[in-house]
Amino acid sequence: MYPLALFAIFLAVLALIWLSRGGKAPSKGATPPTRKKAKKIASLPPFVQANKLYYQQLLLKRKELPCYCLATSAIKTTRNLNETQKEFLYQELKKVPLPSGAAMRLSEMLRDPFVDSKEVAALASSDPVVSARLLAVVNSAYFRPASGKKVNSIHRAILLLGFNQVRNLLFQLVLEHAVNRYSPLSKEEIRKIWLHSAAVSVAAGELAKRQKEHPGLVLTAGLMHDIGKFFLPFFKLEDEGSFLAHEMEEDTPPLLREENQTGFNHALIGGVLCYVWRLPKEIMQAVSYHHFGHFDRLKRLSLRMRRVITTVAVADYICHLLRYADEDPYLYEIPKEALAECGFPDQVEFLITPELEKEIEKMVALLKEYSFQ
Ligand SMILES: [Fe+2]
Ligand SMILES: [Fe+2]
Repeated sequence: MYPLALFAIFLAVLALIWLSRGGKAPSKGATPPTRKKAKKIASLPPFVQANKLYYQQLLLKRKELPCYCLATSAIKTTRNLNETQKEFLYQELKKVPLPSGAAMRLSEMLRDPFVDSKEVAALASSDPVVSARLLAVVNSAYFRPASGKKVNSIHRAILLLGFNQVRNLLFQLVLEHAVNRYSPLSKEEIRKIWLHSAAVSVAAGELAKRQKEHPGLVLTAGLMHDIGKFFLPFFKLEDEGSFLAHEMEEDTPPLLREENQTGFNHALIGGVLCYVWRLPKEIMQAVSYHHFGHFDRLKRLSLRMRRVITTVAVADYICHLLRYADEDPYLYEIPKEALAECGFPDQVEFLITPELEKEIEKMVALLKEYSFQ
């Protein structure tokens, strides 16, 4: 008798659940699914609600791309290398000297936002390559003054372009010189990496401005973030199978594939190159950590530095999503904690605006016109 009574209670409970879910006619007005949908839409920021179609398209673009998480994977940094590997890396990268001309000194000078523009102009005028590049850019369709008059003075060019733009252009000039001369990559491969880097630099600068930060540091870090890619072939192993740091699967992230192919990765090589070139520590850290490997180690850096790294990583994500990538685009997930520290939304796509897209497009077009000749 006892088991039969239990069975009857069980059946009664089942019937009650059925009735509560669908057996009853829904009350007039909103049905549960509609209510849920309405709540979801209400939680979107107003500017996203106002441009729903634009953001829907961005989210669709995101779905088309593979997305990897590196925060939990132990990618290589200099700390993982033994002394012989470190020595090998330093010696190889020492073969790539950074030219120490006027452009480099100017770029350094412009790190100080209060520097005298006349002093900058005097130094810029002493180098014909620098002067030619500045005048070409300021007279381009994007920067030409409204009067339409041609700009012939370096001082006026600097004032019209602004220190940040000038600094970025000069630094690019210096890097281009070193890379074009020493990178074993083809001209086309080099060009693609530069276009991607310039796009990331602009996006990072725009994001920094929104955070009310001086964009100088992220502009340079953005330009440099993939510098290691230019020199990866230096380390290509003859027999890839001889060294497998990671299980090779179809969904192995590109950065870990690099480690299998070279023993290093472009973030690590880029960081060591910054060290060899004696660039500021902040640039070195931003380049080394821009893919968020060893997230725990990264947490020990200062808040300011973590914000710089996140800004560059977000800019990289945005540029891959908008197809300003140097290879088949893909995404690296940005840890939510890092986004929150910058005051960025969890949904990185919501940081993109048509204006930001336009700024990136403008810089890429400019570079296509005035570089790589
Ligand atoms: Fe990268
Ligand atoms: Fe990148």
